[in-house]
Amino acid sequence: MAVEGQKLCVSVSVLALIVGILPVSGIAADASPEQVIFARKANERELGGAYAELRDELKKKKPLQFLIREYGGQIASWAQDQSHWYPEGSGPASGEATNAKPEIWTEREEFDALYAEFLVEANKLSELSYEEDNVAIAAQLDVTGKACVACHERFKNKDEHEFEF
Ligand code: HEC
Repeated sequence: MAVEGQKLCVSVSVLALIVGILPVSGIAADASPEQVIFARKANERELGGAYAELRDELKKKKPLQFLIREYGGQIASWAQDQSHWYPEGSGPASGEATNAKPEIWTEREEFDALYAEFLVEANKLSELSYEEDNVAIAAQLDVTGKACVACHERFKNKDEHEFEF
């Protein structure tokens, strides 16, 4: 039993390592609006998944620091990648189902500024996740979540599956 547990532990950490290091989003430059929107929704959900995993891990009695570092790193690498998720032509005018508001492309400076703020906080979170001060990490996760919400409130339509921060 002890050996089984150890094996499981190793494979989970190897998987986490792979997910954390490889850029898995890969939205090709010549992708159609349908493909871009499909991929970015999946990527936004991955970002949400890493956020929720980190939040839940921090609430545990004995959080695992290697998982905290892993999720912190995932959030930062998705955040980095997000700069490619909203290219010209991938808004609602494409006819595809998206909750992205058309203002992303007409008020681009504002969108980019909110994105830049989010990226700063996500990077801080990732750096902090190495420090093993879980109170500080939880506080920074909160700040990062507020940066997500700031962009969503301005540039995303709500739907029936709203992500809970
Ligand atoms: C700079 C703006 C911006 C930031 C920052 C941002 N998002 Fe989003 N997010 C969006 C937009 C716009 C959509 C709608 C995408 C669409 O429907 O095409 C979205 C969609 C989502 C979705 C729904 C995806 C689906 O299934 O349709 C989730 C979940 C999500 N975001 C989570 C997060 C989390 C968690 C963070 C922060 C850790 C975050 N987002 C940060 C703009 C942002």
